[in-house]
Amino acid sequence: MPLAPTLTIDGPGGSGKGTVGRRVAHELGWHFLDSGALYRLLALAAINHGIELEDVARLAPLATQLDVRFVATGGEEDGIILLENHDVTDAIRTETIGNAASVVASNGVVRAALLDRQRGFCQAPGLVADGRDMGTVVFPRAEVKVFITASAWVRAERRYKQLKEKGLDVNLAAVLADIEARDERDRNRPVAPLVPAADATIIDTSSMSVAQVVHDVLKIVASQVSQR
Ligand code: DC
Repeated sequence: MPLAPTLTIDGPGGSGKGTVGRRVAHELGWHFLDSGALYRLLALAAINHGIELEDVARLAPLATQLDVRFVATGGEEDGIILLENHDVTDAIRTETIGNAASVVASNGVVRAALLDRQRGFCQAPGLVADGRDMGTVVFPRAEVKVFITASAWVRAERRYKQLKEKGLDVNLAAVLADIEARDERDRNRPVAPLVPAADATIIDTSSMSVAQVVHDVLKIVASQVSQR
């Protein structure tokens, strides 16, 4: 049983779940777990140490011992992420690391090695856990579960805008192809595939603003946590 009330937010990349999760956590005053960041950090650590992304014998101990610190900067900001005492906050957000994360995340032994670390985030007064398998595997008994999705096309447009704003030279068709390839790998892997938990509320954000989604999720939390 989780130690504190838990809201799981699962869904594909680019659905807006990270932004929504952070805002909801801020509104509730709860902790926030960005589990995707852990897979990204593991992928970056593997690359830095010259470990192949499929080399489970070396990846699993790396996952258990990963020297990571999430330093909150206040508000609903992402905060700073330190890997082996280096600031990797931006370095883990590239498409290359996102794809590498998806590869390391497809391995069950690697996923198991990250379980305890993720569950350790569940502390009072509550936790908002963002990922792909939060409601199905990591926190199966969470009080509230939502699954946030949007069409691949809408997600590609959002990602394209973000990358453009960062000054990167990107192509919408390539971003869409990348999103579809990652979806395919995350949905069809045998371990902890990207699927909504049976008891999750599904929210399609294709034509919703972030503020609307935050509002709806807070309403769901208020109704489901107070019923207990
Ligand atoms: O949410 P994200 O883009 O930061 O996640 C990066 C990759 O990590 C994504 O392709 C799938 C994987 N992931 C996962 O398998 N399980 C999670 N709970 C979170 C992310």
